[in-house]
Amino acid sequence: MRSLLPLLLAACAFAAPTAPKKKPEPVKPLTPAQKADYAKVVQPMFDAQCVSCHGPKKEKGKLRLDTLEATLKGGKNLAFVIGQPNDSMLLARVFLGRTAGDVMPPKEEHPLTEKQKEALYAFVEGQPIPDELAKAAIADTKKALTAPKPAPKPKK
Ligand code: HEC
Repeated sequence: MRSLLPLLLAACAFAAPTAPKKKPEPVKPLTPAQKADYAKVVQPMFDAQCVSCHGPKKEKGKLRLDTLEATLKGGKNLAFVIGQPNDSMLLARVFLGRTAGDVMPPKEEHPLTEKQKEALYAFVEGQPIPDELAKAAIADTKKALTAPKPAPKPKK
């Protein structure tokens, strides 16, 4: 019996990459606590660092991030589904390294700080944003509003 175990394990490892993709779960409406986190932490962050390109004036990538409704609707692609952080276009783009061409916000803008990204991740995960983290993220958003911007991109 014991000799079967390595075989079984090998079979599992083999099966894993070809396993069919999980069906997307139905989208649940946001809870009042999630809406409150969005209003308190996430929207101000988007307003400060994303809405200049993703709002009423410009709609880059057909994406607006100026309201919860617009954010949930997404742009050319879905930005995220609550509870599925690993399939989120928005998280993927903000977590890219600062040297990646696709990073959001683009290189000439203030990058999101670790705290801001962590808070955003918790929100997309569907977890409450812990108080301390929320405070730190809000403070970073305020700083981004007042600090001078990184040097503009050299013109090609
Ligand atoms: C200076 C302008 C600018 C700012 C600021 C900016 N973006 Fe973008 N964003 C773009 C452009 C241009 C595109 C479309 C081209 C592309 O996909 O790279 C885009 C595309 C995207 C997409 C892909 C949309 C889709 O459905 O294909 C996401 C997600 C995104 N941005 C998120 C953000 C987030 C989050 C922020 C703020 C943290 C942000 N962006 C700030 C310019 C900006």
